[in-house]
Amino acid sequence: MSTLILNIKQLLQTHESNVTILKGEEMKTLSMIENAYVYIEHDTIIEYGKMEDYRPIEANTIIDATGKIVLPSWCDSHTHIVYAGDRTSEFVDRINGLSYEEIANKGGGILNSAKVLQETSEDELYNQSIKRLNELIAMGTGAVEIKTGYGLTVEAELKMLRVIKRIKQESLAVIIPTLLAAHAIPSEFKSKKQEYIKLITEKLIPQAAELNIAHFIDVFCEEGYFDIKDTEAILEAAKSYNLRPKIHVNQFNILGGIALGVKHNALSVDHLEELNDKDIEALEGSDTIPVALPGCSYFLSIPYTQARKIIDAGLPLAIATDYNPGSAPSGNMNFIVSSACVKLKMTPEEAINAATVNGAYAMGISNMYGSITRGKKANLLITKPMNHYSEIPYAFAHNPIEQVIINGQLL
Ligand code: NIG
Ligand code: FE
Repeated sequence: MSTLILNIKQLLQTHESNVTILKGEEMKTLSMIENAYVYIEHDTIIEYGKMEDYRPIEANTIIDATGKIVLPSWCDSHTHIVYAGDRTSEFVDRINGLSYEEIANKGGGILNSAKVLQETSEDELYNQSIKRLNELIAMGTGAVEIKTGYGLTVEAELKMLRVIKRIKQESLAVIIPTLLAAHAIPSEFKSKKQEYIKLITEKLIPQAAELNIAHFIDVFCEEGYFDIKDTEAILEAAKSYNLRPKIHVNQFNILGGIALGVKHNALSVDHLEELNDKDIEALEGSDTIPVALPGCSYFLSIPYTQARKIIDAGLPLAIATDYNPGSAPSGNMNFIVSSACVKLKMTPEEAINAATVNGAYAMGISNMYGSITRGKKANLLITKPMNHYSEIPYAFAHNPIEQVIINGQLL
């Protein structure tokens, strides 16, 4: 099976030698070829270049991309798309003035979603979740991290992992599973949080490891959820099972979660709506990538991550949707790229870099995904006709995507 795309107006993120992360100044440049072609065999990018250098190649499928942009598909490194039901009633509560915290305190929030998920059958949970994933793919996402965290019992967390495993088997998209049992304290453990942490460290992590599905461990490190000591205990326990941290930090309060993540060699620290100079210092020289989630800031009306402060300090930055029923019920990466420009003051080049190469890095897959490089996997987007790639973020809330290719297959 082979596919040839010809007459591409702008072919973005082309790299002769493999690129796995872009930091600071490097994020300002988006490498590209104008009037280009790409040739794909099976699931692999074999050749690309300028049309003037193109010599006829035979292919099963030939696509004429005149006037269109081609780029690596979006890499969404932070989602919670396996959930049951929705939280529209809380949405209305918030419109009427309640905060995220106030809703959680009266039994809503994550605990509400956990209750519904526990009562939902595994098949039904799969059906709801795969539908969401297919919508994301149609909007240009080719690789997705998916977290547990709406189970909050050993049984329900394992059910979530099995559903994620099934999604991974059934879908062409790349799926990266993360164990987030420490997402909230279940009501039955309200006055005995340490017992829930023990359940996670002594039962859930070992049982999850036996299933051999999760790649990463996550903790919601936040006031009212898991503090620094709790987070460290969970990361320590996960270490012996080779679960590297990717953690929720600094969403509402700065507890020191960024420095803790760096200390434990976290692949990513995510949210960062609150951020201080010490956090920046902690990230300097580390392999940990910060991840901004502008959809969450938009939906909860909380501060946007200070992307300029991060990038101007020479650090890398990824952007992701945080798709979940409570704080970000959208998985549209095109909107995230646009929000990164409008609200985080990132340039289109920085935003596209943050949503491709750096998104792939934040899932540990940037050696094979996130750029147009010979030998890398063929996960590509073809846009509708447009004059310049800047139209992707500029025309916010429009759908710029016309076709997607995942693992070499045109969908
Ligand atoms: O990333 N902050 C923690 N977890 C999710 C929200 C979960 C929910 O409200 O259901 C987040 O924003
Ligand atoms: Fe999240």
